[in-house]
Amino acid sequence: MATKVALKSSTAWYDSPLYYDMVYEDYTKRETRFLCAAAQKYGHHFPEYWRVLEPACGSGRLLESLALRGHSVQGFDRNINQIRYAKRRLTKLQLKAKVWRDSLQSFKAPHAGSYDLVHCFVSTFKYLLTERDAVASLRRMSAALRSGGLCIIGLHLTNYEDNPADYEKWVNRRRGVRVCSETWSAPARQKERKEAMRTRMTITESGKTRVEETHWEFRTYSAAELKSLLAKVKSLELVACHDFHYNIKNKRRLNDAYSDIILVLKKK
Ligand SMILES: C[S@@+](CC[C@H](N)C(=O)[O-])C[C@H]1O[C@@H](n2cnc3c(N)ncnc32)[C@H](O)[C@@H]1O
Repeated sequence: MATKVALKSSTAWYDSPLYYDMVYEDYTKRETRFLCAAAQKYGHHFPEYWRVLEPACGSGRLLESLALRGHSVQGFDRNINQIRYAKRRLTKLQLKAKVWRDSLQSFKAPHAGSYDLVHCFVSTFKYLLTERDAVASLRRMSAALRSGGLCIIGLHLTNYEDNPADYEKWVNRRRGVRVCSETWSAPARQKERKEAMRTRMTITESGKTRVEETHWEFRTYSAAELKSLLAKVKSLELVACHDFHYNIKNKRRLNDAYSDIILVLKKK
């Protein structure tokens, strides 16, 4: 019989970075390969080793994979446990990186104007619940970049005409720990531009199973709403769209035909 724990804060599931890291582990290689391919295809004067900023870097899985390729990585997050975990993993591998506590809407990047790449995957941008915060964050990402640098953002889209509840499940194991993560999204509330999200983690370790549940809300974006947001940040130009297959050869249009999108934006 599993013990049930209802987590109180909307981002409480990030308080246990190991479980989060296990759940997203399978994406790391694909996302890293995609970033490398995008830098080659769309970047302007990218040096061999880039200066990278990851807003809301979480457990640091992508900081690590890019640092292992020699890039100079920096990231921030608002969750202190994620920051500690990210710092520990990088130190363990003797990788240099700067990781600090900051927020998506008001962060200060130490080398603003000089990053080659800023990236923000897995719908993290949707944690910004107002247009004002989303614009502020995008402007800061833009200000962090040098001219010709890339801002790459991956997020789920909402088609309000065809908007059923959704469910995704991942299972992973690492050193005697098994994590099953299930995520539900309720149909979007179009007027409020919000969708209710719920994640249930079933964690089995040392012969015991417990269930932790987190509830939170995401801001929703149709293709038109995303275009309207991008139009407010004139210093970024949309150069291409891809999807969560992370295939650089497959370009997508920014329309409601797809449920997810990766925006490749270039700093003018
Ligand atoms: C889905 S995780 C993504 C982490 C990482 N970018 C990755 O791809 O693995 C979302 C992260 O965003 C952080 N976060 C959520 N809202 C934030 C905000 N307003 N400012 C900074 N970090 C935030 C959470 O603490 C969490 O670590």
